[in-house]
Amino acid sequence: LIEDIIAREILDSRGNPTVEVEVYLSNGQHARTAVPSGASTGSKEAVELRDGDTLRFGGKGVRQVIQNIEEIIAPDLQDLDVRDQKSIDETMIGLDGTDNKSKLGANAILGVSMACARAAADYCDLPLYAYLGGPGATRLPVPCFNVLNGGVHAHWQGADFQECMLVPYGADSFRESLRWGAEIYHALQALLLEKHLSVGVGDEGGFAPAVDSNHESYDLLVEAIRRAGFEPGKDCGIAIDPASSEFFKDGKYQLRTENRALSSAEMVDYYAEIVRNYPVVLLEDGLAEDDWENWKLLNEKLGSSIELVGDDIFCTNPKIIAQAIEDNIANATLIKLNQIGTVTETIAATRLAQFHGWGAFVSHRSGETTDDFIADLTVALDTGHLKSGAPARGERVAKYNQLLRIEEELGTAASFAGKKAFVRPVR
Ligand code: PGA
Ligand code: ZN
Repeated sequence: LIEDIIAREILDSRGNPTVEVEVYLSNGQHARTAVPSGASTGSKEAVELRDGDTLRFGGKGVRQVIQNIEEIIAPDLQDLDVRDQKSIDETMIGLDGTDNKSKLGANAILGVSMACARAAADYCDLPLYAYLGGPGATRLPVPCFNVLNGGVHAHWQGADFQECMLVPYGADSFRESLRWGAEIYHALQALLLEKHLSVGVGDEGGFAPAVDSNHESYDLLVEAIRRAGFEPGKDCGIAIDPASSEFFKDGKYQLRTENRALSSAEMVDYYAEIVRNYPVVLLEDGLAEDDWENWKLLNEKLGSSIELVGDDIFCTNPKIIAQAIEDNIANATLIKLNQIGTVTETIAATRLAQFHGWGAFVSHRSGETTDDFIADLTVALDTGHLKSGAPARGERVAKYNQLLRIEEELGTAASFAGKKAFVRPVR
């Protein structure tokens, strides 16, 4: 039974305050978790509450959230069975009473929700992935390494596109794919140094060189893959998250580095050309969240050949995903716990997508902590792929390293998603 819940204000990877939660059980066990925070957020995300007191952390303090956890949520959850995740989450949703968790804060509710899941797993003496996913949770995901950071994650000093990811799907285990990713990351670093481009990194640990066009980013990736001794396309593909809502202004996509603005239809053609020329397997947020109608066009043109993921546009929200499935505007959804705010709803969003033959792509946030919850979540939900940034920086590798442990623990029962990770087969 839940005995007590405490919370504290800690720092995330960007040096901003975030919430850490500890749940104590009546048998003396306890579990801890921490909440991440995004920068390129969707407008329909559950609300991340901040104090707004500009004398502390520029207004980003979370003291109110801590108080909401300790004074409102904790007393109400006391003596509940920690294994009853659904009741715990529903109780908090009821306590909050709003559609978007704006009263108590999604950062309050999610912290408690995740800590309860972890405490329950410990109580049942199960690893978190087995507790959430059952005995069938044995498949390791393909890691998508964000090795080139742009957009807001590099303060617009790099490419327009926020994320260029390496996808080493040709490896035969997670451990091997992690090694490939790290080797290509280092080959890319050497290549950038040779070209006198910056090797400073962005929010997710990827390099943020000031490239002249978005295509140049892909040329760099392909060259780095080769130099590391791998074959682009066969061993390692590319995934892209332009986070296009961030550069969609006045009805056009403003490509700053190329000094031009494209209409939605032109943007779709722009992607089609990239897909023709590079081994792209996944495109996330190719169009903006306010451009729903044109997503249909994007899906008609590219949806049969690559995975088209909605992030800012769906916000891990089962209601929005249901509408998107009905309108047939994509074929996969991103999964971010803090976009929706509870473990129960995150699982529901994933299951809904999977039930309809859609892909589900688990993701970290650009502001992270060393909490590795999403590593277990990915295996539990059998999503086949996840993104947790570059194969560098502590808060990013925390997740990848946890997946190494899971693979080791599963032993011969473990399998690796490889080329079957995506909703469309690798070409
Ligand atoms: P965010 O970026 O965490 O800053 O929202 C991640 C993403 O867009 O996928
Ligand atoms: Zn995204």
